[in-house]
Amino acid sequence: MKISIINGSPKSGKSTSALLIDYLTPQLQGNDIHVYRIHKEALSNCQLAQITDSDALIFAFPLYIDSIPSHLLRTLIELAKQDFSKRKPMIYCIVNNGFYEGKQNHLAIEQMKIWCQHTHLTWGQAVGAGAGEMLPYISSVPLGHGPNKNLGHALTILSQNIKSAQSGQDLFISPNYPKFLWRMNASMFVWYPRAKANGLKRKALYQQADNITFH
Ligand SMILES: Cc1cc2nc3c(=O)[nH]c(=O)nc-3n(C[C@H](O)[C@H](O)[C@H](O)COP(=O)(O)O)c2cc1C
Repeated sequence: MKISIINGSPKSGKSTSALLIDYLTPQLQGNDIHVYRIHKEALSNCQLAQITDSDALIFAFPLYIDSIPSHLLRTLIELAKQDFSKRKPMIYCIVNNGFYEGKQNHLAIEQMKIWCQHTHLTWGQAVGAGAGEMLPYISSVPLGHGPNKNLGHALTILSQNIKSAQSGQDLFISPNYPKFLWRMNASMFVWYPRAKANGLKRKALYQQADNITFH
């Protein structure tokens, strides 16, 4: 079975999407797997042709403003122009987001389903994973255990459906970790350091939209 995976994270280095792909691929062992990155440049004609000639096409990407990152949208537009009639790959998605609740990904997943209808491809299944920025920090915890319990369970179901070319119910998960602790850790170790690195004070992160002047 030929499986194409598109990493839709715009990050040039490590990303949660890449980590999720790394978690999934061992579970698809024995298949012909090709991973594509789109953060730098658009897919070439040759790559587009290879992707259309797949049995399963998996999109792993982050949620951007309740939606699909723009460069992934560009890729989807290019893919929609291709001839999928040869193999008609089943479409699966793993969407991760910054907020705790994986349910936040449901709008982006609906957008992917609309793309599926437009391209006359069959929807397989999506996993919406919350607290995406936390996942690299707990990557030493085996899947299916501790805070990675829900994620491991969801990826096992997804991989089984991919291997048997079946559809399944979309799964929305959060880590098995208290939300208040996640919030505290995310602030201390991710958002405050990032604000500082970008020349912002902590209180700027809590600024309400009506206090911001747009020019
Ligand atoms: C421009 C931008 C918009 C984002 N919008 C959302 C959002 O609407 N909801 C959310 O929960 N997270 C949002 N995030 C957070 C990302 O989804 C989150 O950081 C994700 O884990 C990044 O995944 P990646 O490492 O695979 O790129 C946004 C991040 C950026 C940079």
